[in-house]
Amino acid sequence: MSHTCRIELDGQSHDFPVVEGTENELAIDISALRDRTGYITLDDGYGNTGSCKSSITYIDGDQGILRYRGIPIEQLAESSSFVETAWLVIWGRLPTPEEHDRFSTRLTRNQMIHESLRNHFEGFPPNAHPMAILSAMINAMSCYEPGMMEIEDETTLEQAAARLISKVRTIAAASYKMSVGQPLMYPRADYKYAQNFLHMMFSIPYKDYEPTPEVARALNLFLILHADHEQNCSTSTVRMVASSGANMYASCAAGVCALWGPLHGGANVAVIEMLEFIRQSGMNVAEYVSRVKAKDSKLRLMGFGHRVYKNFDPRAKILKEASDKMLAGMKVNDPLLDIARELEEVALRDPYFVERKLYPNVDFYSGIILRAMGIPLNMFTVMFAMGRVPGWIANWKEIHDDPKSRIYRPRQMYMGNTIQDYVPRDLR
Ligand code: CMC
Repeated sequence: MSHTCRIELDGQSHDFPVVEGTENELAIDISALRDRTGYITLDDGYGNTGSCKSSITYIDGDQGILRYRGIPIEQLAESSSFVETAWLVIWGRLPTPEEHDRFSTRLTRNQMIHESLRNHFEGFPPNAHPMAILSAMINAMSCYEPGMMEIEDETTLEQAAARLISKVRTIAAASYKMSVGQPLMYPRADYKYAQNFLHMMFSIPYKDYEPTPEVARALNLFLILHADHEQNCSTSTVRMVASSGANMYASCAAGVCALWGPLHGGANVAVIEMLEFIRQSGMNVAEYVSRVKAKDSKLRLMGFGHRVYKNFDPRAKILKEASDKMLAGMKVNDPLLDIARELEEVALRDPYFVERKLYPNVDFYSGIILRAMGIPLNMFTVMFAMGRVPGWIANWKEIHDDPKSRIYRPRQMYMGNTIQDYVPRDLR
């Protein structure tokens, strides 16, 4: 079906094409708007703006649908591994057994970081935030991998992607070890991705940490569920940086910075901080919820609501089930979990949240899962970043591979002073 959109401006009408996506989403292509009319569009927060065409991830926020390359997230959560999902997200289809083995081998071969790069850790103070370390180290990695700066073929791309995905895990665990003053653990070649991370986090030289299968499975699931989420703040940042021609490492380091904020990747931290605040204040859950709802309140129920999912977040549904299973197996006794359960119940019944379609999102349950695994609070967003790297690489690749790609350069509505004369310093 071909549509056009007619816009009336200053007594003249202008037709713009309507573009249809493969899932029948419709968009007005206004790329010629300014040239033809002199007008721009204004969409603070980009809630109505498609910044690109992409074939990676499909989300239907009203129906709670999330698919990577067409495959429903529920099926990937049930049957796939993080490594396989990463390949799918980046290359657009499930890998053949040979491709899977080759990629896994590349991940294993590249899990060590250059010894000189290891020395960079010494430069950070012990209380440095691991997100600052992660972003700095991803950028620094590029200095040790000059061959990966210009990617001209698929083999180099696969090598660069494997290095980044593998080393991010090593850097993440090392930044934790530094912060607690323990020796950095080398990765093991016989461990799978999630298990290796847990080993580097929690093993000590004289004692190996053995995660239970439920814990390794829950971490694998956490990483799969975070692998991509179309044009969120960090991914759009990666695309923005990539559009200037910047390399994969620089673009992903920028993604880490964007993810750090509490309204994005930092929300799982904010969930635990909120639960801790409720516990310490001695206030009951209903009281806290009424504070959130109070007129002019700046408080938000962290881990609730989503810009896109207005029905339910399919990742939250999967992670809730996994967290219930994992916690039942671990027999955890944590007062924050009791508060979390009560909060979930109260909010799901409260008309304020129901009317605004504010449901628990993925960060609500991921905060709970990560805490139960023993991951320290300041590492939560790093875990999110580890999961999201494949999505960032896939989006970087989409820009890199597109011969028509242009530098991202939005316009603005200037609302500042009109022309002013410069006033010499002694006359001010
Ligand atoms: N608690 C209380 N009220 C809320 C919340 C919340 N968590 N979220 C939205 N509202 C209210 C908001 O005050 C507004 O009410 P009113 O219409 O009376 O002014 C209404 O709901 C619409 O809110 P909005 O700010 O227009 O919604 P948004 O789409 O701009 O924000 C959000 C989405 C995720 C930033 C927001 O829901 C929020 O701040 N949630 C808490 C932080 C959080 O959990 N973030 C993680 C998001 S999921 C991870 C990811 O995919 O990146």
